[in-house]
Amino acid sequence: MIVRSMVFLKNKSLITTQEWSKDELEYVLNKAFELKKTFKKGRYNIHKKLEGYTLIMLFFSPSTRTRNSFEVGMTQLGGHAIYIDADKSWVGRKSESIKDTAKVLSRYADAIGIRIFPNVVKWKYGEANRIIREFEKFSEIPIINFEDDLYHPCQALSDIMTIKEKVNNLKNKKFVISWAYHPRPLPVSVPNSTLLATTRFGLDVTLVHPPGFELDDKIINIAKKNASKNGSSFEITNTLEDAYAGADIVYVKSWGSLKEYGNPQKEKKLRIPYRENWICNDQLMDLTNKNSFFMHCMPIRRNVIATDSVCDGAHSIIYDQAENRLHLQKGLLVSILQS
Ligand code: CP
Repeated sequence: MIVRSMVFLKNKSLITTQEWSKDELEYVLNKAFELKKTFKKGRYNIHKKLEGYTLIMLFFSPSTRTRNSFEVGMTQLGGHAIYIDADKSWVGRKSESIKDTAKVLSRYADAIGIRIFPNVVKWKYGEANRIIREFEKFSEIPIINFEDDLYHPCQALSDIMTIKEKVNNLKNKKFVISWAYHPRPLPVSVPNSTLLATTRFGLDVTLVHPPGFELDDKIINIAKKNASKNGSSFEITNTLEDAYAGADIVYVKSWGSLKEYGNPQKEKKLRIPYRENWICNDQLMDLTNKNSFFMHCMPIRRNVIATDSVCDGAHSIIYDQAENRLHLQKGLLVSILQS
């Protein structure tokens, strides 16, 4: 007999998947699958599970997928979402404290989502995450991390949903996270969250990047522990061909070097030598398994991160990933507001 622990998610904040148990993450995934299976576009089939509920969305940084999937998700569930250009709000101008903003919004709404990229906090490492945690400290309603400078939990969890849809059994499938060149430094939130989530779901994870683009040791150590606890493997290499060989899934993402974090000119010098070779192309994808998948969280700079041929090719599941942001987040909202 399988005994599963009870899951109580009501009012639980999501800052990083690592702070949620596997059962809690599975609960949200199951909710998302259930909602996706029974939902058909159109007013006639709205699940009114969140009628009367309001989500306030504080965006200090731009978004296409996160903003629209959360807003559409609330609408489809019969609730309401409010978009705030947070840079122009009192809290963004520093006229009102985080404490007062969190306390006041808690009196109006049922959950708050927040996005803050590193440039908003002048590339002070971890500061965006600290701000989100300060909101969480004072808020009386759950906080959802819409992506900060360390984590993007909604992306990682919806990517797990997509992988589960595509791959029958995740156990010991080769999952590669590959760095790619990009003309400016990007946050480490997606690779961090991808590593933390994939190492908990039984995938054999290989991280590949050029020298100088190592991720935070703290994240690497947690990922190693996750993998060993889940009976899977975790490896790091600097060689693209070794990483791609026999891969079942390739997840490509660029990130800035932590060695020159906040120094774009010096950081650029580290990146330039990799401009030609660190792009995902058909030659690299040919090294993977025949039925492998190409993933990217989007937005993707085509023909820089990956070629058009890969983005639009048979391996690509980038639009399925983007769609699942909607379903996963609906599962999350129902879980933390209703369960
Ligand atoms: N992947 C993702 O979070 O996309 P947006 O930046 O458009 O929200």
